[in-house]
Amino acid sequence: MSKLIIANWKMNMSAKAAMNFIPKIIKSKNLVAVAAPYTYLKRLQNKLPKYIKLSGQDVSVYESGSKTGDISAKMLKETGCAYCIVGHSERRIFKHETDKEINDKILNLLKVKIIPVLCVGENISQKRLGQTNKVLSKQLDGALNNIKKPGNFVIAYEPVWAITTFQKGKIKKSASVQDIKLAHVFIKQWLNKHFGREGKKIMVLYGGTVNPKNSFDILKLKEVDGALVGAASLKVSSFNAIIKFN
Ligand code: 13P
Repeated sequence: MSKLIIANWKMNMSAKAAMNFIPKIIKSKNLVAVAAPYTYLKRLQNKLPKYIKLSGQDVSVYESGSKTGDISAKMLKETGCAYCIVGHSERRIFKHETDKEINDKILNLLKVKIIPVLCVGENISQKRLGQTNKVLSKQLDGALNNIKKPGNFVIAYEPVWAITTFQKGKIKKSASVQDIKLAHVFIKQWLNKHFGREGKKIMVLYGGTVNPKNSFDILKLKEVDGALVGAASLKVSSFNAIIKFN
């Protein structure tokens, strides 16, 4: 089965670098998307081959109006976004985003038929206390509150401690295959319990220091439907090495 692999460029890559990057992405049997900064989404969309989809990195909690600096779900739709990341830990931590806000964002995205990519994951102290499942449950309950039929939807399990951003020291490490497997099984059980058959259609990706060295072992897990890639998505060679997974 093909996997979904999303490049999360975060606040990196100039418009020029992005335009040069796109034609170098290889065609693979996997679904590929690029989550780019707002300012050149439209330009990128005009250049993207059909097999690469566009994603936003965040969206406003509001639908429209006097919210200086915000970008609405409808605006993302106009730029051609098929996906949009919500609840990334960098936003939960640096911008103090709450589950209620994440829920509002998801509702806005679903209204315009953009597929939300909801990020969930525990921090290191929660992991050490054995609270991973409790944290995941709470985040899923909050973000998916009042959503009876999620339809097209993606979850990304991104343990905070495994994301490059939050790791000190030179050597960055992803979560272990066993940790990833356990969390994905738990998320899939949660989805099944809450949404029944609909829940089975939801792809669950892993994110956190995915690179060409570990991507094969992670992506070959049957519980892992794809990857959300940060640092390694900024280099054509490493991104291509990840998406060529077969
Ligand atoms: P890294 O792959 O750099 O750890 O980033 C993961 C991430 O935050 C993707 O959203």
